[in-house]
Amino acid sequence: MHTVLITGGAGFIGSHLTRLFVTKYSQYKIVNIDKLTYAGNLENLKDIEHSPNYEFVKGDITDLPFLRSLFEKHQFTAVLHCAAESHVDRSITDPLAFVTTNVVGTGCLLQTAKEFWKDNFDNKIFYHISTDEVYGSLGKEGFFTEETAYDPRSPYSASKAASDHLVRAFYHTYHMPVKISNCSNNYGPFHFPEKLIPLCIHNIINNKPLPIYGKGENIRDWLYVEDHVRAIDVIFHTGKIGETYNIGGHNEWTNIDLVKELCKQMDLKLGRETGASEKLITYVKDRAGHDLRYAIDATKLKNELGWMPSLQFEEGISKTIDWYLNNTEWLNHVTSGNYQNYYEQQYDKR
Ligand code: NAD
Ligand code: DAU
Repeated sequence: MHTVLITGGAGFIGSHLTRLFVTKYSQYKIVNIDKLTYAGNLENLKDIEHSPNYEFVKGDITDLPFLRSLFEKHQFTAVLHCAAESHVDRSITDPLAFVTTNVVGTGCLLQTAKEFWKDNFDNKIFYHISTDEVYGSLGKEGFFTEETAYDPRSPYSASKAASDHLVRAFYHTYHMPVKISNCSNNYGPFHFPEKLIPLCIHNIINNKPLPIYGKGENIRDWLYVEDHVRAIDVIFHTGKIGETYNIGGHNEWTNIDLVKELCKQMDLKLGRETGASEKLITYVKDRAGHDLRYAIDATKLKNELGWMPSLQFEEGISKTIDWYLNNTEWLNHVTSGNYQNYYEQQYDKR
């Protein structure tokens, strides 16, 4: 039995995680707190919003009095911490927003959990969801393992690395029962169209340029979001306290090959002439400090806890495109208003 606090449950990964826990563990009470920034959207949770074991509370993880009153009310036994500022490009424009939410916010959550659990940590879990970007950038060879030294290079990854360090500090200093996972790039439904895959799907639908940073040779290791949250479920229930687990898909793509694959599949699905969408590819100014390659070695998770990705990429990307084509209302809602201002600032001067 758990009373679980999920933070950032209205975001991309958080909404899939909330859905999985609410539907799979009807005996748990799940409380989702989210500030509902531009990236948080309650439409992501419409199908479960009336579930008897689920409650949403709007709130900010940097607000200590709010967190204390919430812990007092619900007596949480577990925290699944997803809330973050998550987009690298935004961290280049506004690094302090990332320090505030990702570092200070994680500190506030840890401190509140410590105060309420009063150093009696029996049957408690503080699970921190993190990223492979904390390990820095790989050359053509090699993989990130759990032993790879941290070497974050963007304000986003530096803020996530700092939050990982804080979580480990609470484990070593106070014996807080923590777990951390570091995952590679996710894709799937409800992904906000500022990130490469949903941005390109949206632009292909609308016949707009597909902006490729630099030469498109950077490599990412893509994992279907439902496989990520399945891994979190396994680690939450069977992973060891104090341990870190890497999660990845063994699925590396250069950005240009990935976008060409998207174009190919979308031409077929939209009934366009072969090669029509590829003509939209436009090379633009590179991202500052652009990490070359990420690739995860998830052997520990496979050998110790038996997790493996379930979907092949071509199938996952096909499901994802279908979801966006069938959910144009969601896409239109999230790309109205502030999205247009962001898009102009981010791309018009490149
Ligand atoms: P997202 O940007 O889609 O969602 C973040 C959510 O956090 C939003 O709902 C937002 O409203 C909420 N939030 C932001 N600031 C908050 C605050 N101060 N208080 C409360 N809520 C706040 O992000 P995502 O892609 O779903 O990522 C979720 C987590 O997973 C992040 O910690 C991210 O670092 C990590 N991660 C993401 C990926 C990926 O590929 N997207 C991969 C590995 C790890
Ligand atoms: O590796 C995990 C990380 O993956 C997560 O921690 C982050 O929250 C998540 O945003 C993601 O970071 P990336 O920077 O890798 O994802 P993004 O989709 O922004 O970019 C993927 C690649 O595509 C990257 O090499 C930059 C490039 N790119 C991105 C955009 C938005 C383009 O070429 N053009 C674009 O318009």
